[in-house]
Amino acid sequence: MRFSEAFIDELKDRLPISGYIGRKVKLVRSGKNFKGLSPFKDEKTPSFYVDDEKRTYRCFSTQQSGDIIAFVQETEGLSFQEAIEKLAQMAGMELPTENASEKKQVKKRKSLFELMEAAVSFYEAQLRGSNGELARNYLQKKRGLNEGAWARHRIGYAPEGWQTLHDHLVEQGATAKDLLEIGLVRESKQANKPPYDAFRHRIIFPILDPTGRPIALGGRALESAEVLKDKGIPKYVNSSETPLFHKSSVIYNYGRARDAIYKLSRHAGSDDPFARGLIVSEGYMDVIAMAEKGFSTAVAPMGTALTEEQLKMLWRVGPEPIMCFDGDSAGQKAAMRAVDLALPLLEPGKSVFVTLLPQGMDPDDLLKTEGGKEGLRDLLRNARPLVDLLWERELGRESLDTPERIAGFEARLDDAVASIGHEKVRVAYMRELKDRRYQYFRELRFAKKDQRSNNNWGGKKWDGKGNSKYRGKNVAQGPVVKLSDTRGLTGRTGLGMIIRAIDSPNLMIEAKEMLAMAVFSDEDVSTLRNAALDVQEFGEKVDRSAIAAHLRSLGRTRSAKLLEEYPNQEPIDPATVAGREWLAALERFPTVAALKDEADSEKNAFASANGVEEHKAEWARRKRLVAERQALKAKSQELIDDTTTSNSQD
Ligand code: UTP
Ligand code: MN
Repeated sequence: MRFSEAFIDELKDRLPISGYIGRKVKLVRSGKNFKGLSPFKDEKTPSFYVDDEKRTYRCFSTQQSGDIIAFVQETEGLSFQEAIEKLAQMAGMELPTENASEKKQVKKRKSLFELMEAAVSFYEAQLRGSNGELARNYLQKKRGLNEGAWARHRIGYAPEGWQTLHDHLVEQGATAKDLLEIGLVRESKQANKPPYDAFRHRIIFPILDPTGRPIALGGRALESAEVLKDKGIPKYVNSSETPLFHKSSVIYNYGRARDAIYKLSRHAGSDDPFARGLIVSEGYMDVIAMAEKGFSTAVAPMGTALTEEQLKMLWRVGPEPIMCFDGDSAGQKAAMRAVDLALPLLEPGKSVFVTLLPQGMDPDDLLKTEGGKEGLRDLLRNARPLVDLLWERELGRESLDTPERIAGFEARLDDAVASIGHEKVRVAYMRELKDRRYQYFRELRFAKKDQRSNNNWGGKKWDGKGNSKYRGKNVAQGPVVKLSDTRGLTGRTGLGMIIRAIDSPNLMIEAKEMLAMAVFSDEDVSTLRNAALDVQEFGEKVDRSAIAAHLRSLGRTRSAKLLEEYPNQEPIDPATVAGREWLAALERFPTVAALKDEADSEKNAFASANGVEEHKAEWARRKRLVAERQALKAKSQELIDDTTTSNSQD
């Protein structure tokens, strides 16, 4: 709809801009203007000015400026049309209509909205009524949602029966035609049969537009996914496309999440990832579970992959939405689809971050586990930037051990970069990926050189059957430098990996066996690994100080120093892309078993065999150590028990 200048003028007259903005930003008078802290940026001194006479605002720290309509668009993520609709309603102005047919259309739309509202209210009442017992039980027992949550999300229940809603609404004056148009009933395939309710015996999740009006419904069956699969019943039924609902441009919980992030960003630092973009999950239930646990900025698309329109809507609210996917292969694929969707649309400052949840889990599942809330928060905080996903995807396709494969890898990266629409972003990506390539291949060359010159197991690559045994295995091994005791932190193969494990408790647990089997050519790194495993075996908390203390008690100061001086690392989780990358890299280290194979097949195998013996000796030593430590613990526990018993007898 086009709005006349006169209409907009009157709208601005009726709503003084300082009044509207003043409800969101604390404004104080400053001459004939008002000033306050910028709503667009975290700041300590006010740089945001509002001028009632000119009917504009201006932020001097972000250079944003505009009128009241622009303000509503900017801060509430509404389109121009929506902003005007909202303001007109506040100002008590009828939306202009250009001609009779358009007037009729507006009236029609209004009546469809009312119908939808009536349906949602009906379903809400059904959930609480005598028909709703099964549904109430399901929500409370299976989903952990009580009455408060029902009300907050307007959850309802569509009872069994073919015409329940139909009859109720027709009784209130609705026509079957309208009900059909809005997708609440479906046409019967049999002639002369009346239309039937689209939602039967399902939990109802209303989908609201940004201003809170219901525009569509999602309905979930009450059985578990497995039972439904057996019976061939769809888990969810959703409203079809209607004049009120175009699913590619609707986001579940958009309006509320937008308000929540707006509030959040007033208090949070500008680097708080939760203030920088909405959290995007895959389902209604995830959004509700998250909102109930305090993640009020969660949203979901309509059960389909994110669309271009939806991504743009996300960006209107915050520049860096965080998308979460199941860590299984379907989830990874979905994450990559999101990468491909986003690349052409990137703009300076605007991107997406991605986090992969533990295998087979969605946010709802994760939140039901103990510590799930903290776990989810950490995963979201550590979501990875788009460029990482792109890099890892292309790197992970195949090992880069022939020039042709390397060329293929580079061509794929170039293609991806070429798909970026915005020139500045494209150039920035080009630079970043060039840096990464340079770094990566430099390390790779070091690793190869090292393998050729001083490696006991890497020298022979071709096994005669056309398979190279270590094909690609050295890929992530990184730089290898000749052993010497004067080296610092750099050039120690595996050091970063071990320390990453020490700093990531979950990784340490998951990779225990693999870590124990891997062979590290650097003696100090190997010692450090052993000490970490010792501490874990002792049943003590694995952290830097415990391991350093252990190392010092063994007289291994060099390893202790390495550990203490190494920069702190973000903990990573084995279920994330980063975690899997890490595990894959660890897998590429030779193992004791491989070493032994080599030793057996090589004629001059003294060194390798020696390595195996050394490893065995080290294991025996560690076993002894653990036994001693445990004996000591038991002893001291006895002592404690003794004192407490004697105390209590007193
Ligand atoms: P999921 O299958 O991941 O559902 O589908 P969920 O949200 O985890 O549901 P619960 O926990 O089993 O109850 C994610 C989204 O995909 C759409 C829905 O929008 C759902 O929220 N979907 C799923 C459908 O539209 N139809 C289906 O049959 C299944
Ligand atoms: Mn689920």
